[in-house]
Amino acid sequence: TVYSDQKAASIAVAQRIADLIRSKQAAGQKAVLGLATGVTPIRVYAELVRLHKEEGLSFKNVITFNLDEYYPMKPDADQSYVTFMNENLFDHIDVDKANVHIPDGTLAPDDVAAFCLAYEHKIEELGGLDLQILGIGRTGHIGFNEPGSAPNSGTRLVTLDDLTRRDAARDFGGKENVPTKAITMGVGTIFKAREIILMAWSAKKAPIIRQAVEGEISSEVPATFLQLSDHVEFVLDVDAASQL
Ligand code: GLP
Repeated sequence: TVYSDQKAASIAVAQRIADLIRSKQAAGQKAVLGLATGVTPIRVYAELVRLHKEEGLSFKNVITFNLDEYYPMKPDADQSYVTFMNENLFDHIDVDKANVHIPDGTLAPDDVAAFCLAYEHKIEELGGLDLQILGIGRTGHIGFNEPGSAPNSGTRLVTLDDLTRRDAARDFGGKENVPTKAITMGVGTIFKAREIILMAWSAKKAPIIRQAVEGEISSEVPATFLQLSDHVEFVLDVDAASQL
């Protein structure tokens, strides 16, 4: 779906999230959301905060799982995805923090594999993800599933691509300060979500969107695996869609 601008697109995505939360609420159920970081979803979160404050949307029945976190990373660091999520969403809504899950960037190396397995199990135990929202990196990564990621990959420790680290350099005051690794949900984890929405804005994303939507399906561009799913929607602004 192509929108004239990212604001209209973000409001539409936020509305769909709100509809899901409300329909689950009406059925006495929890909504299990997969959340993303980066610049792309910021306006979606801002709109959800507005819906909470002005229209009484409650997040009391919402469980969240974030896609990824840098490794190593302290939760209270400026660049952590914990800080990002708190500042952009969680601190402004009534979600129960016990229902919030973000990969732990403070684990000892020996504990990472068990943590990743437990993260997968937790998602399953809670009934699976109702909706996963995604951005896309210029390498074609979803979450931090960089080129080389397998379609059935699970939550795991990965090495970040050089381009991804260059793109993150501004947040860290130089590429040398960007962690070389991250913990991410896998392509397979993302695929299990009952609905997936990938968002992209601006001409900067146009080449990778063209590859993701029209390119050959390959682990060289992990987002191309989304072509294999029948429950994925790309939500774009006109600039991101300009090379389709
Ligand atoms: C990061 C995140 C991804 C995100 C991507 C794009 O690497 N791990 O989940 O989709 O960047 O970021 P942005 O939305 O800032 O362009």
